[in-house]
Amino acid sequence: MEIYVDTANIEHIKHSAELGFITGVTTNPSLLAKEDPSVDVKKRILEIHELIGGHLSVEVISTKKDGMLREADEILKWFPEATIKIPIIPEGLGACRELARQDVPVNVTLIFSPTQAIAANNAGAAYVSVFMGRLDDVSTSSAEVIEDVCEIWDVQDFESQIIAASIRNPMHMLDAARAGADIATVPYNVIMQSLKHPLTDSGLNQFLADYDKMQAEKQKRMSM
Ligand code: E4P
Repeated sequence: MEIYVDTANIEHIKHSAELGFITGVTTNPSLLAKEDPSVDVKKRILEIHELIGGHLSVEVISTKKDGMLREADEILKWFPEATIKIPIIPEGLGACRELARQDVPVNVTLIFSPTQAIAANNAGAAYVSVFMGRLDDVSTSSAEVIEDVCEIWDVQDFESQIIAASIRNPMHMLDAARAGADIATVPYNVIMQSLKHPLTDSGLNQFLADYDKMQAEKQKRMSM
Protein backbone atom coordinates (compact mmCIF):
# COMPACT_ATOMS: atom_id res chain seq x y z
CA MET A 1 0.00 0.00 0.00
CA GLU A 2 1.43 3.36 -1.02
CA ILE A 3 1.19 6.29 1.39
CA TYR A 4 0.31 9.81 0.28
CA VAL A 5 0.18 12.80 2.59
CA ASP A 6 -3.18 14.54 2.81
CA THR A 7 -2.28 18.18 3.37
CA ALA A 8 -1.49 21.54 1.80
CA ASN A 9 1.01 22.49 4.51
CA ILE A 10 4.40 23.20 2.92
CA GLU A 11 6.51 22.35 5.97
CA HIS A 12 4.67 19.04 6.41
CA ILE A 13 5.09 18.21 2.73
CA LYS A 14 8.81 19.08 2.87
CA HIS A 15 9.30 16.74 5.81
CA SER A 16 7.12 14.04 4.24
CA ALA A 17 9.29 14.15 1.11
CA GLU A 18 12.39 13.68 3.30
CA LEU A 19 10.86 10.64 5.00
CA GLY A 20 11.52 8.63 1.86
CA PHE A 21 8.34 6.59 1.60
CA ILE A 22 5.66 9.15 0.73
CA THR A 23 4.77 8.92 -2.96
CA GLY A 24 2.14 11.61 -3.37
CA VAL A 25 0.00 14.41 -2.00
CA THR A 26 -3.75 14.90 -2.01
CA THR A 27 -5.27 18.31 -1.47
CA ASN A 28 -8.77 19.68 -1.28
CA PRO A 29 -10.23 23.19 -0.88
CA SER A 30 -10.62 22.75 2.90
CA LEU A 31 -6.97 21.73 3.33
CA LEU A 32 -5.84 24.72 1.25
CA ALA A 33 -8.09 27.13 3.18
CA LYS A 34 -6.87 25.73 6.51
CA GLU A 35 -3.30 26.79 5.70
CA ASP A 36 -4.21 30.25 4.42
CA PRO A 37 -7.73 31.33 3.34
CA SER A 38 -6.19 33.97 1.03
CA VAL A 39 -3.77 31.50 -0.55
CA ASP A 40 -2.94 31.77 -4.25
CA VAL A 41 -4.05 28.23 -5.15
CA LYS A 42 -2.00 27.95 -8.34
CA LYS A 43 1.15 29.13 -6.56
CA ARG A 44 0.64 26.77 -3.63
CA ILE A 45 -0.10 23.79 -5.88
CA LEU A 46 3.02 24.42 -7.96
CA GLU A 47 5.07 24.76 -4.78
CA ILE A 48 3.74 21.37 -3.60
CA HIS A 49 4.38 19.81 -7.02
CA GLU A 50 8.01 20.92 -6.91
CA LEU A 51 8.48 19.46 -3.44
CA ILE A 52 6.91 16.05 -3.92
CA GLY A 53 7.40 15.23 -7.60
CA GLY A 54 5.01 12.23 -7.44
CA HIS A 55 1.22 12.02 -7.43
CA LEU A 56 -0.63 15.28 -6.77
CA SER A 57 -4.43 15.41 -6.74
CA VAL A 58 -5.95 18.86 -7.24
CA GLU A 59 -9.69 19.26 -6.65
CA VAL A 60 -12.11 21.20 -8.83
CA ILE A 61 -14.73 23.36 -7.16
CA SER A 62 -17.30 23.57 -9.94
CA THR A 63 -20.41 21.40 -9.61
CA LYS A 64 -21.20 21.46 -13.34
CA LYS A 65 -19.54 19.21 -15.91
CA ASP A 66 -18.42 22.08 -18.18
CA GLY A 67 -17.02 24.04 -15.29
CA MET A 68 -15.15 20.97 -14.02
CA LEU A 69 -13.66 20.41 -17.47
CA ARG A 70 -12.62 24.06 -17.73
CA GLU A 71 -10.94 23.88 -14.31
CA ALA A 72 -9.22 20.63 -15.24
CA ASP A 73 -7.83 22.28 -18.40
CA GLU A 74 -6.50 25.15 -16.33
CA ILE A 75 -4.88 22.85 -13.74
CA LEU A 76 -3.28 20.76 -16.50
CA LYS A 77 -1.76 23.96 -17.87
CA TRP A 78 -0.14 24.52 -14.45
CA PHE A 79 1.48 21.07 -14.67
CA PRO A 80 0.48 18.31 -17.07
CA GLU A 81 1.04 15.43 -14.59
CA ALA A 82 -1.81 16.63 -12.35
CA THR A 83 -4.46 14.21 -11.17
CA ILE A 84 -7.85 15.94 -11.26
CA LYS A 85 -10.00 15.38 -8.20
CA ILE A 86 -13.71 15.36 -8.91
CA PRO A 87 -16.64 14.74 -6.53
CA ILE A 88 -18.91 11.74 -7.03
CA ILE A 89 -21.96 13.59 -8.27
CA PRO A 90 -23.66 12.86 -11.60
CA GLU A 91 -22.04 15.89 -13.29
CA GLY A 92 -18.71 14.74 -11.90
CA LEU A 93 -19.06 11.30 -13.44
CA GLY A 94 -19.70 12.88 -16.84
CA ALA A 95 -16.60 15.04 -16.45
CA CYS A 96 -14.62 12.00 -15.32
CA ARG A 97 -15.60 10.06 -18.45
CA GLU A 98 -14.60 12.98 -20.66
CA LEU A 99 -11.20 13.42 -18.97
CA ALA A 100 -10.58 9.66 -19.03
CA ARG A 101 -11.14 9.75 -22.80
CA GLN A 102 -8.32 12.29 -22.96
CA ASP A 103 -6.12 10.04 -20.76
CA VAL A 104 -6.23 12.49 -17.87
CA PRO A 105 -6.08 10.69 -14.50
CA VAL A 106 -9.11 11.45 -12.34
CA ASN A 107 -9.40 10.85 -8.60
CA VAL A 108 -13.11 10.57 -7.78
CA THR A 109 -13.59 11.84 -4.26
CA LEU A 110 -16.21 11.87 -1.49
CA ILE A 111 -17.02 8.18 -1.95
CA PHE A 112 -18.85 6.61 0.97
CA SER A 113 -20.36 3.43 -0.51
CA PRO A 114 -19.36 0.55 -2.79
CA THR A 115 -22.00 1.52 -5.37
CA GLN A 116 -20.54 5.02 -5.64
CA ALA A 117 -17.10 3.46 -6.04
CA ILE A 118 -18.32 1.17 -8.85
CA ALA A 119 -19.88 4.13 -10.69
CA ALA A 120 -16.62 6.08 -10.44
CA ASN A 121 -14.61 3.12 -11.73
CA ASN A 122 -16.98 2.62 -14.65
CA ALA A 123 -16.82 6.30 -15.54
CA GLY A 124 -13.09 5.86 -16.09
CA ALA A 125 -11.62 7.04 -12.76
CA ALA A 126 -7.96 6.25 -12.25
CA TYR A 127 -8.49 6.51 -8.46
CA VAL A 128 -11.50 6.11 -6.20
CA SER A 129 -11.20 7.84 -2.81
CA VAL A 130 -13.17 6.07 -0.09
CA PHE A 131 -13.57 8.28 2.99
CA MET A 132 -13.07 6.30 6.21
CA GLY A 133 -13.09 8.74 9.15
CA ARG A 134 -16.25 10.51 8.00
CA LEU A 135 -18.04 7.13 7.80
CA ASP A 136 -17.09 6.27 11.37
CA ASP A 137 -18.32 9.76 12.37
CA VAL A 138 -21.83 8.71 11.32
CA SER A 139 -21.63 5.29 13.00
CA THR A 140 -20.92 3.32 9.83
CA SER A 141 -17.98 0.91 9.94
CA SER A 142 -15.35 2.29 7.57
CA ALA A 143 -13.42 -1.00 7.89
CA GLU A 144 -16.41 -2.88 6.45
CA VAL A 145 -16.89 -0.40 3.59
CA ILE A 146 -13.22 -0.46 2.54
CA GLU A 147 -13.24 -4.28 2.77
CA ASP A 148 -16.34 -4.46 0.56
CA VAL A 149 -14.83 -2.12 -2.02
CA CYS A 150 -11.55 -4.06 -2.11
CA GLU A 151 -13.36 -7.39 -2.38
CA ILE A 152 -15.47 -6.13 -5.28
CA TRP A 153 -12.32 -4.82 -7.03
CA ASP A 154 -10.75 -8.29 -6.74
CA VAL A 155 -13.83 -10.16 -7.94
CA GLN A 156 -14.45 -7.76 -10.81
CA ASP A 157 -10.81 -7.23 -11.67
CA PHE A 158 -11.32 -3.45 -11.73
CA GLU A 159 -8.27 -1.43 -12.67
CA SER A 160 -8.80 1.85 -10.83
CA GLN A 161 -6.74 2.30 -7.68
CA ILE A 162 -8.44 2.42 -4.31
CA ILE A 163 -7.39 5.31 -2.10
CA ALA A 164 -8.34 5.07 1.58
CA ALA A 165 -9.01 8.71 2.49
CA SER A 166 -10.27 10.64 5.51
CA ILE A 167 -7.78 8.74 7.65
CA ARG A 168 -7.88 9.84 11.29
CA ASN A 169 -5.57 7.37 13.05
CA PRO A 170 -3.08 4.55 12.40
CA MET A 171 -5.86 1.96 12.84
CA HIS A 172 -7.53 3.32 9.71
CA MET A 173 -4.22 2.78 7.88
CA LEU A 174 -4.13 -0.82 9.10
CA ASP A 175 -7.75 -1.47 8.16
CA ALA A 176 -7.05 -0.08 4.68
CA ALA A 177 -3.86 -2.14 4.25
CA ARG A 178 -5.53 -5.32 5.51
CA ALA A 179 -8.45 -4.83 3.12
CA GLY A 180 -6.06 -4.35 0.18
CA ALA A 181 -6.36 -0.61 -0.59
CA ASP A 182 -3.71 0.49 -3.09
CA ILE A 183 -3.04 3.80 -1.37
CA ALA A 184 -3.82 5.50 1.93
CA THR A 185 -3.76 9.28 1.96
CA VAL A 186 -2.86 10.22 5.50
CA PRO A 187 -2.66 13.51 7.43
CA TYR A 188 0.91 14.39 8.46
CA ASN A 189 0.26 13.99 12.20
CA VAL A 190 -1.10 10.46 11.65
CA ILE A 191 1.93 9.54 9.51
CA MET A 192 4.20 10.64 12.36
CA GLN A 193 2.02 8.82 14.91
CA SER A 194 2.23 5.63 12.83
CA LEU A 195 6.05 5.69 13.01
CA LYS A 196 6.21 5.95 16.80
CA HIS A 197 6.69 3.07 19.22
CA PRO A 198 7.85 3.45 22.84
CA LEU A 199 10.06 0.36 22.49
CA THR A 200 11.85 1.98 19.53
CA ASP A 201 12.61 5.05 21.67
CA SER A 202 13.74 3.09 24.72
CA GLY A 203 15.71 0.64 22.54
CA LEU A 204 17.57 3.46 20.79
CA ASN A 205 18.28 5.23 24.09
CA GLN A 206 19.76 2.01 25.44
CA PHE A 207 21.95 1.48 22.34
CA LEU A 208 23.26 5.05 22.59
CA ALA A 209 23.89 4.79 26.33
CA ASP A 210 25.81 1.52 25.85
CA TYR A 211 27.87 3.07 23.04
CA ASP A 212 28.72 6.03 25.32
CA LYS A 213 29.74 3.56 28.03
CA MET A 214 32.12 1.82 25.58
CA GLN A 215 33.63 5.14 24.52
CA ALA A 216 34.15 6.20 28.12
CA GLU A 217 35.83 2.86 28.90
CA LYS A 218 38.14 3.28 25.87
CA GLN A 219 39.11 6.80 26.97
CA LYS A 220 39.82 5.53 30.49
CA ARG A 221 42.13 2.79 29.17
CA MET A 222 43.95 5.17 26.86
CA SER A 223 44.65 7.62 29.67
CA MET A 224 46.13 4.88 31.93
C1 E4P B 1 -9.15 13.00 0.48
O1 E4P B 1 -8.52 13.08 -0.54
C2 E4P B 1 -9.55 14.12 1.33
O2 E4P B 1 -8.70 15.19 1.06
C3 E4P B 1 -9.39 13.85 2.81
O3 E4P B 1 -8.88 12.55 3.05
C4 E4P B 1 -10.58 14.21 3.62
O4 E4P B 1 -10.31 13.93 4.97
P1 E4P B 1 -11.18 14.52 6.18
O5 E4P B 1 -12.41 13.72 6.30
O6 E4P B 1 -10.29 14.34 7.38
O7 E4P B 1 -11.45 15.96 5.85
